Amino acid sequence: MNFKDIPERGLVLLGCGKMGSAMLAGWLKGGLAPSSAYVIDPTPSNWVQSTGVHLNADLPAAPAVVLIAVKPQMMGAALPVLKAMGGGETLFVTVAAGTTISTYEQVLGASTPIVRAMPNTPAAIARGITAITGNATASAANLDLAEALLAAVGQVVRLEGEHQMDAVTAVSGSGPAYVFHLVEALAAAGEAEGLPADLAMRLAKATVGGAGQLAEESDEDPAQLRVNVTSPGGTTAAALAVLMDAETGFPALLTRAVKAAADRGRELGK
Ligand SMILES: NC(=O)c1ccc[n+]([C@@H]2O[C@H](COP(=O)([O-])OP(=O)(O)OC[C@H]3O[C@@H](n4cnc5c(N)ncnc54)[C@H](OP(=O)(O)O)[C@@H]3O)[C@@H](O)[C@H]2O)c1
Repeated sequence: MNFKDIPERGLVLLGCGKMGSAMLAGWLKGGLAPSSAYVIDPTPSNWVQSTGVHLNADLPAAPAVVLIAVKPQMMGAALPVLKAMGGGETLFVTVAAGTTISTYEQVLGASTPIVRAMPNTPAAIARGITAITGNATASAANLDLAEALLAAVGQVVRLEGEHQMDAVTAVSGSGPAYVFHLVEALAAAGEAEGLPADLAMRLAKATVGGAGQLAEESDEDPAQLRVNVTSPGGTTAAALAVLMDAETGFPALLTRAVKAAADRGRELGK
């Protein structure tokens, strides 16, 4: 991994819970020296304590990057600690959901390069997808560095602008929860057809996991993959007639669900 000037100037990670730890693990695996990382977290896990990073120690005055991974509710308490690092020398990258770039600019100053990112939980197994967008001060080099850091936990896509962030959050940020619920519902439906619970759950998990990976890796698009397994008048066709119903099927349901998430994001961002 290319860490640019992080080895000399350091990287500060504010908040090292699930998302912070997943990223830190990726960076260390990618060759970041633990002595280049400064982690601030009031309740560090045993794993973080074992990594050899600087933990709740004095911070460099102008680190190359500050990565913010605290819960949005903690932002008010956490940000002032970093205020002195605003102003241009340090790149700020934040993965906090819902907190807008202007909120950071108000504390850190608009001359601070800021990249807002929306990752998702498969980051824990380096299968995440993160969307990023920068403020007006963020340079191409800043975005490249943010992308390199976030690539440690999966794929990275760049947005046209922050206006796309609520929709992205509603699709890929919150999306894993929709898929987990699909697994639960599919397993429950299998039980209703008489399968033992553990067998139904195993079938549901492997089906969603395998089909997801096939959809991602296949040269054929998901619609064609669906057609490929649907014989006219067969079992799959019978189920799809229910799931593809224009009023009560997946398209209508997911459109409503994703809209509810995006609306909530817009509300929280105010
Ligand atoms: N998980 C996801 O899939 C996901 C997806 C997209 C975005 N995000 C964003 O990522 C951020 C982190 O989420 P998470 O799931 O990793 O949450 P988390 O596991 O709760 O991690 C947050 C960590 O920050 C620590 N913390 C609290 N106050 C702090 C402070 N003032 N200074 C430094 N550290 C502080 C917390 O310590 P305590 O436990 O002691 O409070 C905790 O260890 C959130 O803003 C979330 O919106 C997460």
